[in-house]
This record gives sequence, C-alpha cells and structure tokens, in this order.
Amino acid sequence: MKIGRNLPCWCGSGKKYKACHMAFDEKIARFQHAGHIVPDRKLIKTEKDIEGIKRSAVINVAVLDEIGEKIKAGMSTQEIDDIVMNTTKKMGGIPADLGYEGFPKSVCTSINDEVCHGIPSKDIILKDGDIVNVDCSTILDGYFSDSSRMFMIGDVSPEKRRLVQVTKECVEVGISKVVPWTLLGDMGHAVHQHALDNGYSVVREIGGHGCGNAFHEDPFVSYVSKPGTEMLMVPGMVFTIEPMVNMGTDRIYCDEENGWTIYTADHLPSAQWEVEVLVTETGCEILSW
Ligand code: MF3
Ligand code: CO
Repeated sequence: MKIGRNLPCWCGSGKKYKACHMAFDEKIARFQHAGHIVPDRKLIKTEKDIEGIKRSAVINVAVLDEIGEKIKAGMSTQEIDDIVMNTTKKMGGIPADLGYEGFPKSVCTSINDEVCHGIPSKDIILKDGDIVNVDCSTILDGYFSDSSRMFMIGDVSPEKRRLVQVTKECVEVGISKVVPWTLLGDMGHAVHQHALDNGYSVVREIGGHGCGNAFHEDPFVSYVSKPGTEMLMVPGMVFTIEPMVNMGTDRIYCDEENGWTIYTADHLPSAQWEVEVLVTETGCEILSW
C-alpha cells in the first residue's frame, strides 16, 4: 500500500503522491491507529468515477421525476416498471435491479406495509390512500446510482402522511450528519433518534450501502447504529442513506412465495426515502434523490 512520495498518486490525478493523497492517507491511518474502522482505498472514488456516477444519477433522477408525473390511482405497478425500463433505456442506461440476484423486474415498488423489494405486477393496482416507495437503480457505463421516493396516491390519511414526512426528515437529518472525518455511527444514530422522537421504529436488518462502481459496496450503513462506532466518512466515499421507518414494530419478515418482498410483522405501514451522497471536504453532495 505504501507509495513513494514522488511516484504518481494512486487516484489517477497524475500528480505526485506527496502533492496529492499522501496527507489524506496519513490522516486515515491516524484514525485507524485510534481504533476506528476506516475505508479501504477502493471505496474512495476518483474524479473519473465521480463524473461517471453523476451521469448515471442524471438518469436515476429523470426516471423518478417521470414516475412522479405519471403515478396515480388505478395504475398497476407493472406500468411503473415499464416507465423505468423505457426511460432508462431511452437515456442509454440499464435498470440495475433487473436480474440482480435473480430479481425479476426493473424497479422495486413497495406499498403500505411492504417495507422494500416489492415486485411490480400487472395485478397490483395502486389505489386511493396508498403510500408507495419506488426504488430505482441505474447503471450507465458501469457506474451505479440508487435512490427512491415515496408517492402518496390520492387522499392519504394524516397518519400515513406524517410517516412519509418524518421519514423524509430522517434522511435530511442523515444528510446533515455527513461530515468528513466523523463516523457513520453518529449519522445513523441521529436518523434513528428522529424516528424514535416521532414514535416510529427503524428496520435493523436492512440498510444503506456504498455505491458507485458496483451496486452494493461496503460499508453497510445502519440507521440504528451507536454514536462513536462504524466507518469513518472521508471525502470521495459514496453511499446511500435509506432508512426504512415503520409506524409500529421494527420487526419484519420476508414473503416466502417470492423470496423478495419484506413486510412489517404487524402490517402497519412503512416508509422509505433513499438518497445517494458523495462525501466532500465540507459535508456532502447529493448525487441522486
Ligand atoms: N434498490 C435497493 C437498494 O436500495 C436494492 C434493490 S435490489 C433488488 O439497495 F434486487 F431488489 F432490486
Ligand atoms: Co440502496
């Protein structure tokens, strides 16, 4: 791992190591010696990676915008899948979900008590009062983007509206805690606290992830983490903030028939928003939402 001071930097900038990432690497090493989990070099995106991820994210955002314009009661979740496939392809991308570990569709559509990984179907029709998460992931030129939004169909109850709103606030709290040279555990804890303060719970088993050069990279990003724990955030890391917030219990189970769809154990509603962020020198930049 050690590079000569005068050799080219590992990041591909063409600069000498001593004038580029040497001080950065030394700073990471100090955190590691103090006992913290630190990112491997392969989790630090180069300028070229960041440009590629941003181009992928343009498609990801456009697809979700398109769904926002068209989604309505009476529509099947297969129609959402068709929009994702068509818009992604038209813009030169590939839906990352399709075929991922055998996932059969191009997007996840999770309604009401479905926590995540809902499978689109022509037989699932959106109805007045539903809340639905559309989780969209895009590949362009080998670069990955991943984000999701909640949509409220017609006349949604005040209880469900509040869940959707507070879940969005949880992501905003998370974003405000993405500060370089601080720990992911502090960020996750703040997200959890905001949900708890509002009387909700947060799913433990499923969380966010590094993203960009692959769909799911390290680290696993928990939203029930303890302060002072988990990986150090450093500039150049890209990961998602995507808490699943439940109105009732945090317990969940997986649909045995399809092997994918996750439900709340008490069948109370669950909401999720997902954002992909780049850690910068001063905070973070939102790549897709
Ligand atoms: N988009 C999800 C995430 O946020 C992953 C979905 S994987 C799939 O990480 F196979 F279910 F599509
Ligand atoms: Co994700």
